[in-house]
Amino acid sequence: MIILGIETSCDETAAAVVENGTKEICSVVASSKEFHEKTGGVVPEVAARKQVEAITPVIAACFEKFKEAKRLGSLDECYKLIDAVSVTIGPGLVGSLIVGIEAAKALSLALKKPLIPVNHLVGHIYANFIGNDKVVEFPSIALLVSGGHTDLVLIKGHGNFEYLGGTLDDAAGEAFDKVARLLGLSKYLGGVFLSKKAEECEENILEGKLPRPMLDQDNFDFSFSGLKTSSRRLIEENKYAAEAVACEFENAVVDVLVKKTIRAAKKYKVKTILLGGGVSANRVLRKRIREEAEKIGIITHVPPISLCTDNAVYIAGAAFFNNKQVKYEKLDANPSLGIMDRF
Ligand SMILES: Nc1ncnc2c1ncn2[C@@H]1O[C@H](COP(=O)(O)OP(=O)(O)OP(=O)(O)O)[C@@H](O)[C@H]1O
Ligand SMILES: [Mg+2]
Repeated sequence: MIILGIETSCDETAAAVVENGTKEICSVVASSKEFHEKTGGVVPEVAARKQVEAITPVIAACFEKFKEAKRLGSLDECYKLIDAVSVTIGPGLVGSLIVGIEAAKALSLALKKPLIPVNHLVGHIYANFIGNDKVVEFPSIALLVSGGHTDLVLIKGHGNFEYLGGTLDDAAGEAFDKVARLLGLSKYLGGVFLSKKAEECEENILEGKLPRPMLDQDNFDFSFSGLKTSSRRLIEENKYAAEAVACEFENAVVDVLVKKTIRAAKKYKVKTILLGGGVSANRVLRKRIREEAEKIGIITHVPPISLCTDNAVYIAGAAFFNNKQVKYEKLDANPSLGIMDRF
């Protein structure tokens, strides 16, 4: 089954074509990041306007790439090969979401193809299936760590999720971004820069200086806002090099994420662990979770780095495994959709 995916939940405008939920045929991502760097955060109105500018060229470029990849003679042949159109319906910024949704509806109508809505957070998890030559066995624990969310879910099968816990305040990605900003590394989306800075640290001289929030609590919830405040205080002491603070901060976040995920994996006797969301690109998190899971005989799957942050490949992938088709008049944006919400 060949699915066209469309993703416009925030500041990326993306379209992709994926075969059978696992094989990426082509992908196009445009980003309005540079505009949000200037303001140090996303201005929803600006993001929505940039979505409007980008959506048609991105979809057109995606079809061109599809034509090339399949060595087809015309775009009409491409359209015939598409079996369904899938689109992110939430969570995200309403103005941005609407742009992708309306484009998907128009395409579905014009090409006479079914329409599949996708929860963006579920999409992040399905990045694990793209180009993965191993079978992902269930039950599985998925740790979703993105810019806006941190959730731990038990996956019993496709579309069969049980919510185990999540952050009570800030997402892990938001904490990375805030501390990166406090360290003067980047005003916007600084997680990757903080991680690079931490790599410069040869020895963690600040080990244990920052809290590991909620680690001792017998639940699967997280909290990162206090860690942000403690990091700010440490930085304000002006005694430590940025790489030392970055290293201790990264370790504190990773300690909590890994230990709680492993605890859940043991409790629910899962076969696999899946990571998803932008923070799953973090090299320390990927390494530590793999090492700890291996010790208890559990296989860890991680998405390719390029598919950790927002794109349409995993939207089309998730649509294949959760193929709930809807009529276009029933499709609407849902900005506050949670990981357990269906439509
Ligand atoms: N290597 C890295 N280490 C730590 N954090 C990272 C890394 N790479 C990206 N991130 C963080 O990932 C986040 C972006 O992830 P993503 O694109 O999934 O979030 P989002 O789409 O904005 O939020 P959501 O998916 O919750 O709606 C940012 O907070 C960014 O700093
Ligand atoms: Mg995302």
